[in-house]
Amino acid sequence: MNKNNKIGFGTAAIGRPSYINIKTDDSPAFTDINSFRNKGVDLLRSAWRFGITHFDTSPGYGIAEDLILAFIKENSNQKITISTKWGYTYVANFDPNAKQHEIKEHSLQKLNEQWEKSKLLLPYLKLYQIHSVTPESDVLDNSEILDRLFEIKMENQIAIGITTSGPFQNDVIKKALKVEIGGEALFTSFQVTFNILDQSLFELKQILKGKNLIVKEALANGRILRNRKYPHYNELYSELERLANKYEVGTDAIALRFCLDSFEDSTVLSGASEQDQLKQNLKAAIITLSSSELNNLQSFGLDKTDYWNERKKLDWV
Ligand SMILES: NC(=O)c1ccc[n+]([C@@H]2O[C@H](COP(=O)([O-])OP(=O)(O)OC[C@H]3O[C@@H](n4cnc5c(N)ncnc54)[C@H](OP(=O)(O)O)[C@@H]3O)[C@@H](O)[C@H]2O)c1
Repeated sequence: MNKNNKIGFGTAAIGRPSYINIKTDDSPAFTDINSFRNKGVDLLRSAWRFGITHFDTSPGYGIAEDLILAFIKENSNQKITISTKWGYTYVANFDPNAKQHEIKEHSLQKLNEQWEKSKLLLPYLKLYQIHSVTPESDVLDNSEILDRLFEIKMENQIAIGITTSGPFQNDVIKKALKVEIGGEALFTSFQVTFNILDQSLFELKQILKGKNLIVKEALANGRILRNRKYPHYNELYSELERLANKYEVGTDAIALRFCLDSFEDSTVLSGASEQDQLKQNLKAAIITLSSSELNNLQSFGLDKTDYWNERKKLDWV
């Protein structure tokens, strides 16, 4: 079996100044939109130079789609593939102290409005996803929306997928897998949270075979990296550091390698916000963990309710 080295680049951290993660005191602060834009496009260029060909974005990530549009304008390589989403609108206007950063709306009107902009990413756009389907959203029961997605799929020859978050993501995936239009499954791609702390996706390993799987939040938004706020993970941090020393990489690369090896056909997203982070993340591709090391990392999985309760408490910083 070939080793899975498919690392894609997620743009949530480069399109808006605040995001749900664990910034450290030395993380660069937002100064002005022009520098922010230039830094974002530079990071996309670096990702490409480092060998990344898949880019994931969303209108909910501030100017992220614009950054990718600028990048593909100067680089029209056919190896580039893009996935975007609809359903979230960014509303914070680059104010790091904004009370509300995004609004979720799974309506036909929002789909049509956001598609008008996202379709500019064609022909590199290969996957269009409903952003964050949870049990509270009735989007999978809305036949007008499902029919419109089917139309977009047929007209543009692109795949349709969903992204999921939260403790019920497996239930949502199982429901989405049953949606058929025109005699075929509408959703063939699933962007899902999976990492050492939330391994609940393993339950669906068999039924996801043959589907396009994209792993997000592989570092649990930064919680997997040693942090004084999370002393209850000290044992995991020590094990990751032991492996990082052994393989001469950072602990981030070990955590990403774990995801790549857990779902051999998946694409694992790097959510790096800095070039150095991206370089470190990509070292996941040059190491091999033994089965016993992977099994040992599996023992650090949390109960999914505990995982998502802690995730809910993360701030937009
Ligand atoms: N569909 C959805 O609902 C959804 C939700 C979340 C994510 N996503 C997608 O998945 C992508 C990845 O998700 P994510 O950004 O949450 O992933 P993540 O990998 O769990 O977290 C990324 C964060 O980890 C930190 N980091 C990464 N490498 C580091 C290093 N070497 N040293 C120190 N810190 C490091 C950075 O935090 P700092 O910026 O604080 O330094 C970075 O922003 C996103 O960009 C987006 O495309 C989708």
